[in-house]
Formats: sequence, C-alpha cells, structure tokens
Amino acid sequence: MSLAAVRVGSPASLDTLLPTTVADPGQPGPGEIRVKLAASSLNYHDFAVVTGMIPAEAGRIPMSDGAGTVEAVGAGVTQFKPGDLVVSIFFPEWIDGTPPATAFRGVPGDGIDGYARAAVVAPEHWFTRVPSGYSAAEAATLTCAGLTAWRALFVDGTVKPGSTVLVQGSGGVSVFALQFAKAAGATVIATSSSDAKLERLKALGADHLINYTETPAWGMKALELTGGNGVDCVVEIGGAGTLDQSMMATRVGGHVALIGVLAGFAGPVQTALLMAKNLRVQGLTVGSRDQQQAMIAGIEANGIKPIISDHFPLASLADAFRHQAANKHFGKIVVDI
Ligand SMILES: NC(=O)c1ccc[n+]([C@@H]2O[C@H](COP(=O)([O-])OP(=O)(O)OC[C@H]3O[C@@H](n4cnc5c(N)ncnc54)[C@H](OP(=O)(O)O)[C@@H]3O)[C@@H](O)[C@H]2O)c1
Repeated sequence: MSLAAVRVGSPASLDTLLPTTVADPGQPGPGEIRVKLAASSLNYHDFAVVTGMIPAEAGRIPMSDGAGTVEAVGAGVTQFKPGDLVVSIFFPEWIDGTPPATAFRGVPGDGIDGYARAAVVAPEHWFTRVPSGYSAAEAATLTCAGLTAWRALFVDGTVKPGSTVLVQGSGGVSVFALQFAKAAGATVIATSSSDAKLERLKALGADHLINYTETPAWGMKALELTGGNGVDCVVEIGGAGTLDQSMMATRVGGHVALIGVLAGFAGPVQTALLMAKNLRVQGLTVGSRDQQQAMIAGIEANGIKPIISDHFPLASLADAFRHQAANKHFGKIVVDI
C-alpha cells in the first residue's frame, strides 16, 4: 500500500515541491511505534529546506514537526500504547543534558526524512506525549517553535515574575515566547511591522508595542519603556540585522537568545556594547526531549494553547509556504495530513 506524502523537488523550490505517495512504513520493530500523522506545522527552517536555502538530499520528505496517533507499538515499548496522541521531537538523539556532538545531525525533514507524510515508524523516544486537551494540529506547533521559545526564556534564560522580555515580530517562535513570558508573570515588549498584528499581540497580553518599521531605533524605544534600565531578555529572531537594536534594548547583564536569521546570516557586531553591558548573547537551536517534556508540563499548568492563524491540507504544502513567505500569518501555520 502507498501513502500520501510530499517530497522536496530537484532543484528545490516551491514550484517543484509536489505531492506524491510513498511506501507504507509497515509495522514497528522492537522499541518502535507506528504513528498515523495528522498534522505538521511550518517553520522558517522548513521553508529553507524546501526552497534549497538549506541543501537537502533530492526527494527528501520535509517538515520537522509531526503529531498524530500511535497505531501500533513494537516489543519493549514502554511509554506509549495504541491510541495515544504523540508529537515529534526536533533532535531525535538529544534526550537530555547538553547537546551531544552528534545531536544536530539527523533532524527530521532536513538530515533525514520528516513528517510531510501520512504515517511513520520510528523509535519511541523520537516522540513525546502531547499536552492534555491538545488536538494533533495544536501539538504539531510545539516541536520547533514552541520548544525554541521555551528554551530561550526558561532554560538558557532566567525569566521569572517581574522580568521584562522583548519579542520580535508575530511569527511562530515570537508568539509562543509572548504567551510563555506572560504566563510566567513577565512584562512583554512586542514589535511588529504591522499595526494590525500589534493589536493582536496586545490582545495576547503584550504590555508595550513598537512598530519596528516606523521606529527603526526600536532598541532605544524599548530602553525608554523600561525607564532606561533595559529588558532582561530578548528573543532575537532577526539575527545580524536586528542584533544591535536588541543589545541596545537589553539591561546590563541581560540575555539575548540568538535564534533566527530573518534579518541576515552574518554581519558586524558592536563588540564594545556587548562588553560594556556585560551581555550574554547565546545562540541556541531548539532543545532536547527532556526540555520538550518540561515545556508540555508548563503548558498544561498554565492552560496555554498555540495561536494558529491558518490551516492548509498536505497536498497544498507549497501554498502554505507561499502564505508564510508573504508574511500573512500570525503565530503558526498548520498542515493537516
Ligand atoms: N535556532 C532555532 O532553534 C530556531 C528555531 C525556530 C526558528 N528559528 C528561526 O527564528 C526565525 C523565526 O522563525 P519562525 O518559524 O517563528 O518564523 P515565522 O513564523 O515565519 O516568523 C516570521 C515573522 O517574523 C517577523 N520578522 C521578520 N523579519 C523581522 C525583523 N527584521 N524584525 C522583527 N521581526 C521580523 C515578522 O513579523 P511581523 O509580520 O509581525 O513583522 C514575520 O511575520 C527564523 O529565522 C527561524 O529560522 C530558529
């Protein structure tokens, strides 16, 4: 039997990203589970794979995020049973602690086949349970965007009640960061290129709003909003083009979680400012399975639900990415499988 899937074309582009079928993965072996995938969600990383910005093997099945129902379990599986809803982890071999040197190889949808397909057989530790009350579509938003925001604030960062956090724009990582920071009792400064999106960020709890297009020196504005002290943590999704403003916005001894590349992959850094403010600028890539489980507990304790602005069917994955590239989304775009 064959099952629905999508493969990266050659050359990789949205025009060559075409729906296809793949062989049924069969029954799980020892330690494995078979998951009937119901949803995935779009990340900028997936966009980079399907458009060839990140070179992937021709024919790669994209998408790092996958959620669905366990259909069968192999011998020795202890964590799941048929009928359980599960969600994938980003680094299948990073279970806990600091990342092993090999952790960053083998990311589903990049180094190995991902979750743009109807079913998968994989080791049980490639998945975790989902937060109680979550649908597969909601769970599928957590693997990359959710965990990255969680780690930035609470694993690498020290965000707690009374902290001030700055989030940039209204994409997947930033909206999760806003929701998590508010749940933790932090004050949030949110930026966006759109006044309409700023209003939506305000409705989610953002305390201060800055349109970064109208106010290019938004770092200085954030400094003013904190009485000249600066924020405790910036969730930096722009990278080279936004880092200077982020460092400007941050308090002495504060933390910039360097996550994204939306404003460039490389550029000059104001090293004197970094030093003078005793800043901790820390790069990070998603997180471990253990951190995902902690995030799920935090989500349940606070009743947090992801913000999903759009759904597309798997067969329209290219259109979903066009929607993302046109910046029409707010929070997450989900693909229903
Ligand atoms: N290191 C990691 O582990 C990791 C994990 C996840 C994501 N990322 C990276 O983080 C970035 C965001 O990913 P995502 O999946 O959340 O993307 P996304 O959902 O596509 O977010 C796009 C949004 O970012 C905002 N944006 C774009 N350029 C900006 C700029 N110069 N300044 C401020 N905001 C800007 C825009 O918001 P407005 O429309 O409101 O302006 C845009 O809608 C990407 O670079 C991605 O590769 C890294």
